[in-house]
Amino acid sequence: MSGDLVNNVNNVSLDENHVLKNRKDEDHVDPWNVVSSSDTGVDYDKLILRFGSSKIDDELLARFEKVIGQPVHHLLRRGFFFSHRDLHSILTRYEQGKPFYLYTGRGPSSSSMHVGHLIPFSLCKWLQDVFNCPLVIQLTDDEKTLWKDLTVEESYKMGLENAKDIIACGFDVNKTFIFSDFTYIGQRPEFYRNMIRIQKCVTFNQVKGIFGFDDSTVIGKIAFPAVQATPVLSTSFPDIFGVKKIPCLIPCAIDQDPYFRMTRDVCPRIGFDKPALLHCKFFPALQGAKTKMSASEANSTIYMSDTPKQLKNKINKHAFSGGQTTVEEHRKLGGNCDLDISYQYLRFFMEDDNELEEIKRKYSSGELLTGELKKILIDTLTPVLTRHQEIRAKITDEILQNFMTPRKLC
Ligand code: TRP
Repeated sequence: MSGDLVNNVNNVSLDENHVLKNRKDEDHVDPWNVVSSSDTGVDYDKLILRFGSSKIDDELLARFEKVIGQPVHHLLRRGFFFSHRDLHSILTRYEQGKPFYLYTGRGPSSSSMHVGHLIPFSLCKWLQDVFNCPLVIQLTDDEKTLWKDLTVEESYKMGLENAKDIIACGFDVNKTFIFSDFTYIGQRPEFYRNMIRIQKCVTFNQVKGIFGFDDSTVIGKIAFPAVQATPVLSTSFPDIFGVKKIPCLIPCAIDQDPYFRMTRDVCPRIGFDKPALLHCKFFPALQGAKTKMSASEANSTIYMSDTPKQLKNKINKHAFSGGQTTVEEHRKLGGNCDLDISYQYLRFFMEDDNELEEIKRKYSSGELLTGELKKILIDTLTPVLTRHQEIRAKITDEILQNFMTPRKLC
């Protein structure tokens, strides 16, 4: 294989078990683990070099705004979506009035999603509105059964619960298809046939190199990357696209890139366009940016289902502070916004640039104390969660079924 895949091998070494290891001074990023060597989190510029993707720079954002005729989403403006592959060609297609679709997904590993999961989905919702295009959302219940201590039934059920959280982000049922791998792959032979076309193009040796699989890896995991690759082929969704070959844009966290490097390598060999990608940064854990927020670790995580009281306690108790140890010192030296988790979360959730800038100024100068900053975050997040919970409570099984039925989209 060449092209996209070659870049992956740079700067990583294989240990005696052929497990992909990053060098000690580097961040570890794969689809299942993210650990940074630094308190400020992953070095994303280095990751761009290592993965061989492209930086989203001011010039690209300027073109984006020109093409869509409106300002870009604050997640793009503030650099949370920081890297891409082939975004220019999607923008060009949009200019030319040619079709494309959005594809994203979710591996259901807990019954409630957490605030970090909202990030790619809120960008997707914005992209769907701006481009007025179809969106397919894959629930990889199969992936979570294979990787976690979960039965088929448990992951399937979690997938359905997660679908409700996803729908609550405001997706338009006329333009959105959500599917569970366990259900949909058996419903449409076209999907399975494409899966096999992809599996035929990738060797065990290649997935060993990309994902760190070894001789004792269960075979379900070895074959799985093709499952996540298949929605990139539009013909996997005959109800939506018929037999038309249409390219897609995939908004995802950067840890999912290995799947799509593999996919991009395969696509031209089976007569499809490579997918374009928009990569976002990780949402940091409450305890600090060294690790990402993880649904399976309750203390480091704010779930969309947390009550206002739980939210308040978690932030007050666990949110890592970039402030000084005493009030006197804090007034004198000020807080460090780069390390402070409450400030970092506000960057995701506070849309007003001026207000955010003012908070940064006050906290850095020591005018604002950690407790006060935490209160601002609590006051910002509480209505986000409450609103989400209200909308989610109204999503009936019937609504869920509507989103999950294979059908023609507008
Ligand atoms: N593997 C992803 C996860 O564990 C789920 C997923 C499937 C996905 N297809 C995707 C994520 C496409 C982003 C884009 O969450």
